[in-house]
Amino acid sequence: MIKQAVIPLAGLGTRMLPLTKALPKELWPLGNKSILEYILDECFDAGITEVIFVISKNKEVIKKYFLRDKQLEKAVKNKSNILKTLLNLDKVSKKIKFVYQDKPKGLGHAVLCAQKLLKSKYFLLLLPDDVIKGSNCSKELIAINKKKNSSVIALRKVKKNDVKRYGIVGFANKHKLKINKMIEKPSIKLAPSKFAIIGRYLLNKSIFKLLKKQKTGKLGEIQITDAINNMIVDENFYGCKFKGKYLDCGTTKGYIKSFIEMNK
Ligand code: UTP
Repeated sequence: MIKQAVIPLAGLGTRMLPLTKALPKELWPLGNKSILEYILDECFDAGITEVIFVISKNKEVIKKYFLRDKQLEKAVKNKSNILKTLLNLDKVSKKIKFVYQDKPKGLGHAVLCAQKLLKSKYFLLLLPDDVIKGSNCSKELIAINKKKNSSVIALRKVKKNDVKRYGIVGFANKHKLKINKMIEKPSIKLAPSKFAIIGRYLLNKSIFKLLKKQKTGKLGEIQITDAINNMIVDENFYGCKFKGKYLDCGTTKGYIKSFIEMNK
């Protein structure tokens, strides 16, 4: 059973500066809940019982958002609906563990920071920029993992001209969605398919051995894609064409579109 999920939150959010300077994008609202609470709902609904947040000193406000504030509770003690939402957040916080990434050394490094807390062979990894409406993508990954006993990643088909904006996978067996390569932002010519990876991974802990060995990439960061490419050599790795609607909350324009979509 997959019971633990990692949510990396220690990035700088540079594409949405200066808006992300004081309020991390993960806490921006998508209606009456923050983006991060939508991601947590997906986790808990998929049977996850513990979520590990990878944060940084600059993003302590995320911890503050979830941790109990008795003074606030006292202030709204006669407003039962508001009090209920605060108490509910407190319930959620009991399922969250926090670890720190000292510097933003890349997604791969952020995931490494959670290693010591992970217990079972497989864990979920969710990137909060990507919100899925209308189906539970994590549940779909878990179902494939159960059937194949392997790592799984969520995929969506993009337009040919857009492959250069995403991580694109190649298939050893397209019918069965068995993945044999992953290329970051390829040219149209070099793209092995039109299937882009999105921020939902179900990974074997064997990824840690590879992440530790990995050298930093062009931007001085440890990329998870490089480790996955090495993993694919020795292990089965499957794609999942998830059912729901993909919402990109990682840019201001995408966030506005997502907000409208979620409030339709
Ligand atoms: P991104 O590469 O999208 O970076 O990270 P970002 O900080 O969110 O935003 P931009 O690109 O600067 O605008 C993907 C995920 O990995 C986390 C981010 O918080 C995000 O959830 N991350 C990234 C870390 O936790 N640590 C890092 O060093 C890098």
